[in-house]
Parts: sequence; C-alpha cells; structure tokens
Amino acid sequence: MKHIRASLLPAAALAAAAAAVLAAGAARAQDNTAAEIAKYRQMLAEGNPAELWEAAGEELWKKPAGPRNVSLEQCDLGKGPGVVKGAYAELPRFFPDTGKVMDLEQRLAYCRVTLQGLTRDEAMRNPFSAPGKSSDIERLVAYITSESRGLPMNVQLKHPEEKRVYALGQKMFFYRGGAYDFACATCHAVDGQRIRLQDLPNLLTQKGAQAAYTTWPAYRVSQGEVRTMQHRLYDCLRQQRFPEPAYGSDVITALSLFLARNANGGAYDGPSMKR
Ligand code: HEC
Repeated sequence: MKHIRASLLPAAALAAAAAAVLAAGAARAQDNTAAEIAKYRQMLAEGNPAELWEAAGEELWKKPAGPRNVSLEQCDLGKGPGVVKGAYAELPRFFPDTGKVMDLEQRLAYCRVTLQGLTRDEAMRNPFSAPGKSSDIERLVAYITSESRGLPMNVQLKHPEEKRVYALGQKMFFYRGGAYDFACATCHAVDGQRIRLQDLPNLLTQKGAQAAYTTWPAYRVSQGEVRTMQHRLYDCLRQQRFPEPAYGSDVITALSLFLARNANGGAYDGPSMKR
C-alpha cells in the first residue's frame, strides 16, 4: 500500500487514482501467482486447516474455565442460552440484557465475564494470533461461526438500536479521513477494482457483501493463521491509515452490522480459506 501516494493528489482525483494504482500491481504479481495457486490447490485437496481451529474452539467452549470454573455452554448468543447453531447468521443483534447491539466477539467477551468470571481485560486479551502465540478467541470464533455454515444470513433491523447502529456503520463506511483521505468506499464501492491480485468486493452490492462477509473467518494460506472479521476490519482500517480501533469496539460492531445486513440472504460459508 505504500505505493499509493494519494496524499499528494487533489481530493477529487482520489478514487480514480486509487483505481489506477490498484490495476498497476496486477501484472507484476503475476509470476508469484502460479506458485501460490499450486499451494492453494494442494491445501484444498487436504481439507481446510480451519477445521483444526473449529475443533479446538469447540473444546474451549465446552471446557470449564475461569475463576468460576464453568464452560461457555450456557452463553446466550442471541437465540437463547446454549444455542450456538445458527447464532452467527443473525449477528450483530440487539441484546436486551445489555441494552446494546453486540457482534459475536463483544458477546463472547460478555459471556466469559458473566459466566466464567473473567475480568473484561482478561476476556478481551489476545484476540489475534501471531507466530508462536495462538488465540483462544480466534478458536472460539471459528467454532461458533462454523455452526452457522450453510444457513442464510438473517440480520434484522427491527430494534431502534439496530437501525441506529446500522446507520452508524453506513456513515463510517463513507467517512473519509487519514493521511490518504480514504474511506472504505474508496476501495470497496466500485465493481471490478483490484489491489495487486486481490479483487476488492463492492460491499454495497448484495453479491459483493455476501461473497465477502459470509467467508470470514478464513484460514489465510499466506499467513498460516485463521483470521476473523474483526481482524479483517482492523487490517483495512490500518491500510486506510485510520487510528487502530480498540478490539471489540462499537465502531467495528457498526461496520459489521452494515456489512452483515447487506449480505442478508446469502448462505454463510465460513470459516473458509483464502490466500
Ligand atoms: C486502501 C484500500 C482499502 C480500504 C480503504 C479498505 N479496504 Fe477492505 N480490503 C482491501 C484489500 C486490499 C482487501 C483484500 C486483503 C487481503 O485479501 O488480504 C480488503 C478486504 C476487505 C474485506 C474482505 C473481502 C473478502 O472478499 O474477503 C472486507 C469485508 C473489507 N475489506 C472491508 C473494509 C471496510 C469495512 C473498510 C473501511 C473500514 C475497508 N475495507 C477499507 C483494501 C481496502
């Protein structure tokens, strides 16, 4: 992304400039593609490594833990205590017990605090894995999301708070700022835009939002890790040169609600595999 010198351009030229730069990298990266695709094909044949995360997450979900030594099995992810099946396809949603719209990871932290007795800090610690440092949160998320595989996204905007948070996510999507004066929309509101080899989905269309939203978390072949939607959005905000969002912040929930709702009707298909 360093090659985008958008800050030198007048604001009006930004979207066009971004599109041009995005196309330019494609040819250069062509050579690496064959090797990457071969690696990818081999992994596909062997199954998705994300299954290991799902299995580890299920174990964590069912294992008594924390100061109270209880499992997460009675966690209410929105469909009642203990119901994991289909819960993710309806998130983010309004929760009457907290009076808030929460995404999966905010809710998971809430359950770890209220059921297991962890402090909020403990429940939010280590959300993203790094080499040699695995993340329980990523594993739990891989398990929970896998229990919605094949189900249509069904995110409601019934409660006034859901409407408010959706509008906030929409506003955030178009909000320009940072050194480049980019918004999410700069990269994700046009059809057929690319950076290097990566197609940038138009997240305002149902097709684009479905393809993007329903395939996270994903096992990243290039990183050897499972990455969550939280991480995806964190990474895009970083590329946008926005301040780093706090893990589990309401801004991420608002963006997620906006994207998830736009993806309604699409079959949830994660955890998937991506390059
Ligand atoms: C500078 C361009 C840029 C901006 C601005 C940007 N993104 Fe991205 N986005 C990317 C790139 C590049 C990828 C693919 C990255 C990869 O595959 O590693 C991506 C991927 C994504 C994906 C996953 C798509 C898929 O099919 O898997 C989502 C969702 C997403 N971005 C949302 C956002 C949101 C929301 C914002 C605003 C907060 C945003 N992006 C801002 C460049 C950008």
